[in-house]
Formats: sequence, C-alpha cells, structure tokens
Amino acid sequence: MTIKVCLAGATGWAGSALARHMAHSEDIELVSAVSRTHAGRILGNVLGEPRLTCPVFATAEEALDYPCDVFFDYTKPDVAKTNVLTALDRGANVVVGTSGLSDDEYAIIAAVAEARGRGVLAVGNFALTAVLLMKFAEMAAKLIPQWEIIDYASAGKKDAPSGTVRELAARLSRIRESDLIVPLEQTQGVAETRGARMGGSQVHSVRLPSFVISAEIIFGMTDQKLTIRHDSGSSAEPYVDGALLAIRKAGTFTGLRRGLDSVLEI
Ligand SMILES: NC(=O)c1ccc[n+]([C@@H]2O[C@H](COP(=O)([O-])OP(=O)(O)OC[C@H]3O[C@@H](n4cnc5c(N)ncnc54)[C@H](OP(=O)(O)O)[C@@H]3O)[C@@H](O)[C@H]2O)c1
Repeated sequence: MTIKVCLAGATGWAGSALARHMAHSEDIELVSAVSRTHAGRILGNVLGEPRLTCPVFATAEEALDYPCDVFFDYTKPDVAKTNVLTALDRGANVVVGTSGLSDDEYAIIAAVAEARGRGVLAVGNFALTAVLLMKFAEMAAKLIPQWEIIDYASAGKKDAPSGTVRELAARLSRIRESDLIVPLEQTQGVAETRGARMGGSQVHSVRLPSFVISAEIIFGMTDQKLTIRHDSGSSAEPYVDGALLAIRKAGTFTGLRRGLDSVLEI
C-alpha cells in the first residue's frame, strides 16, 4: 500500500533532498507540498525532478486539503507547531523534522495526538550516526553522573541549541540530572558562561563560520573522561534514509514519540 505524504518545506535544503528521494520510492507518494515562495507551481518544476507532479501551496492548511496519511514538517519552528496541530486535526499522522520546538510545545502536541488517536514522530536528527550518539550517551549517563553538552553550528543558524542537542538533553533528563558541584547561582564571575540548564544538562551553543552542525557530550569522572561527538557533513543526504523510515513508521503508534530509535529495534 502506498503512503501518501504532504511535505511542508519541500523546497528547502533538507526537504528538497527528501522529496527527490520520494520521487523514486515505490511505497511513498508525495501528494502535496508547502512553500510560500513557490506556491502555485508543480514541485517537479521547482526541483527539476519530473516525477514530482504534486502541487505546491503557501500553507499547510491548503496543502492538507489533499488527503494524506502522513504530514512531514521540515520548515521553521515558528510555524511548525501550528502545522502539526492542523495536520492532526485533519486526521494525518505526523513526522516532525523541524528543530527548535520546545518541550512545552511537544507536551501540547502529545496531548492532541492522543486525543485524535494519531502518531507524531519527532526526530531531532534522522542520521543513523546521530541516533547512535543518543543511545551511547544514554548508556553513559546511567553510569556517569556528570556531563556537559556542546552544540556547534554555522554562524547563521538562528535556533539554539540544535534539534539534536534538544533531543539529547530531553532524553538524558529521563535518566538523571547531571550533578553540579558548584550550583549555578554560586558561580563567581559571569554565570552565563556556564551555559544554559536544559532538563538537567549544561548546554553550550557555539555559532561560528566553518561549522556545519556537531553535537558533543563530555562525561567527566575523577581522572578520566569520555567524549562522544557527532559531526554532520554539508549535504542533506544523511537525513534521507531516516526520514523515509520515519514516514513508514508514523502510522504504527498513537501519541508522541521522540527520536528515530523509538521506532527502531536497537
Ligand atoms: N531532523 C533532522 O534530521 C533535520 C535535518 C536537517 C534540517 N532539520 C531542520 O529542518 C528545518 C528546515 O531546515 P532547512 O535547512 O531545510 O531550512 P530551509 O532550507 O530554510 O527550508 C525551509 C523550508 O520551509 C519553507 N518554509 C519556511 N517557513 C515557512 C512558512 N512560514 N510557511 C510555509 N513554508 C515555510 C521554506 O519555503 P518558503 O521560504 O518558500 O516558504 C523551505 O521550503 C530546520 O528546523 C532544520 O534545523 C532537521
């Protein structure tokens, strides 16, 4: 059976790579797309891929007039939550690839997904290597009580920290909080240099030219430390396989799940 998909952000860096792969998928069909700039056009004409014959709309609300099984969001955090809630109201399951939604926003999304009997799969990073970073960090946090997280990205990335790091901090918060030997309010000097407290992790975001996107977590114990780091390259290809897998899994559960491994057997 073919899974019908509406893709918001289909003309963007990540969305266009996904759309091009969907054009060659046998079980996934792109039925509508969202982009304000290219509204009114056929997606294939925008991306130079004749197999993509679906129309582009300016809003998710319009695009969702075409019935779909899965709504996929690859836009911006300021519009993603509204898109997701609209899609749930229209009866679609949802994959959220967009980064920057807060835990409070996810709590609302989770409640609506449960109420509508639909599934929302939110994945901060679809790359397999990033999925493994999360798993390895969770294993380490069970044994090592102190860590800090560093998030690196290009100078122009507006949201901070990255979706990967938000997801990492949220997942570690379910294991334990990282111990702080000196409470933040007792910091002498400039307390902000200690980073932001997110779900019990200290998080530091670096935004500089020459970085693409990396996440690093350092676990420290007396006279020993462990660093786990994930680095993404400059293309959107690493995210495609995981995103296609997420589309295939989105209709297999009810409520909110976070992280690709929540639907994988690892
Ligand atoms: N989970 C992952 O593995 C992963 C991987 C890569 C990226 N991401 C995240 O995915 C998001 C998109 O990243 P990107 O690099 O592809 O961004 P991008 O190149 O700027 O693309 C954004 C896309 O969303 C559309 N869009 C933006 N605002 C919109 C709005 N208000 N209404 C309708 N469409 C809108 C844009 O089209 P118009 O401007 O024409 O409307 C464009 O198609 C970011 O949050 C990024 O961090 C996640």
